[in-house]
Amino acid sequence: MSAVDVLVLGGGAAGLMCALVAGRRGRRVVVVEHAERVGKKILMSGGGRCNFTNLHTAPANFLSANPHFCKSALARYTPADFVAMVEAHGIAYHEKELGQLFCDVSSKLIVRMLVDECRAAGVEIRTGTAIRAVHADAPGFRVETDAGTLAAGSLVVATGGLSIPRMGATGFGFDLARRFGHRVLPLRAGLVPLTLSGAPLERNAELAGVATPVEIAHGGARFRNAMLFTHRGLSGPAILQISSYWQPGETLHVDLLPERDAAEWLAAARRAHPDAELRTQLAEVLPKRLAQRLCDHDLGHRRMRQLQPPDLARIAGLLHAWPVLPSGTEGYRTAEVTLGGVDTDTLDSRTMMSRTVPGLHFVGEVVDVTGHLGGFNFQWAWASGNAAGLVA
Ligand code: FDA
Repeated sequence: MSAVDVLVLGGGAAGLMCALVAGRRGRRVVVVEHAERVGKKILMSGGGRCNFTNLHTAPANFLSANPHFCKSALARYTPADFVAMVEAHGIAYHEKELGQLFCDVSSKLIVRMLVDECRAAGVEIRTGTAIRAVHADAPGFRVETDAGTLAAGSLVVATGGLSIPRMGATGFGFDLARRFGHRVLPLRAGLVPLTLSGAPLERNAELAGVATPVEIAHGGARFRNAMLFTHRGLSGPAILQISSYWQPGETLHVDLLPERDAAEWLAAARRAHPDAELRTQLAEVLPKRLAQRLCDHDLGHRRMRQLQPPDLARIAGLLHAWPVLPSGTEGYRTAEVTLGGVDTDTLDSRTMMSRTVPGLHFVGEVVDVTGHLGGFNFQWAWASGNAAGLVA
């Protein structure tokens, strides 16, 4: 049996960050990763370019039963700290929109940077290694793997959430938390496309591939971004964002004309083009196929001059609050994140350490802290990994 100071379970974003920070402190660190390579989700993130942070990161960008929990870690490891490491490695990046930073070339560079930093800090990474059992062996832990047993003073659980099982996601961290007496708050897929079924799906069948800017407010959150019609239902950044706030059975109201006052615009269009079809006028401000679908199923086919004030008010109301009742989500198969997780009440927010099992830390997505779309989830992984790495 070999003995180390810090054993990190999971070689993803949070685990690698934790390992390199602990390694730089002179701690003997081993990372155990069951996949054949580390950082698989980093590799696939941001369309292969990794949206590695967001310049506007703030606690308000995170969902958690305790919205204050993330503050300490985020304050002590900021986007600027990660950017400094990226720049020190000569990785070119750009801001895409809304503070989202992406690699110019490839997310492989982020994984290589983390692995190089781990190596420089003397961290040992064991890939393709399955964990068989974890025991609390006061004052530390004993972990049985298929490549031998390791004893460690600190154990950091960084095994991520349930999204994208084909990339190696498991419920390992949640099971381990429960076994060590920690509550796990209900898990569900977040940042995930919403599905439609029956008549709503049929009515939108012609729209697959159509994207339009929308604003959606739901569950106390509000997002303005693109919505995309798909063969299964709805996707695009606005839908992914609101999916984290949506609960089954709830109707969403989509503002299809977020940039204008629909009542004013309709009245002006009626004055300027009284003989035009409503559909033709709508196609001036909405994708043509969407305008057609709205007239076919919701608004009817009429000329502008036939629309009386109550009609105009009804149409304006519908354009600003188009009701959608999703049948569900696409689930963990395509979700970017898992909502819920290890209850933050059971952890110390400065160190990410268990309040009841000394030396046991949870970092990254396994914890009940989930970011909005746009680089926030990686920033949480870096910040929480750093918080644990400084003390483990
Ligand atoms: P992560 O999942 O990264 O790592 C967990 C590691 O533990 C994995 O390597 C896994 O194989 C390993 N593991 C699991 N079970 C194990 C076991 N039993 N034994 C050993 N190892 C085990 N976020 C963002 O901010 N910007 C973005 O651009 C994107 N893009 C994106 C795209 C897609 C398609 C997905 C699915 C997700 C994103 N995300 C994102 C979210 C982001 O990837 C996610 O929040 C972080 O990777 C979470 O980091 P963790 O280290 O907690 O888990």
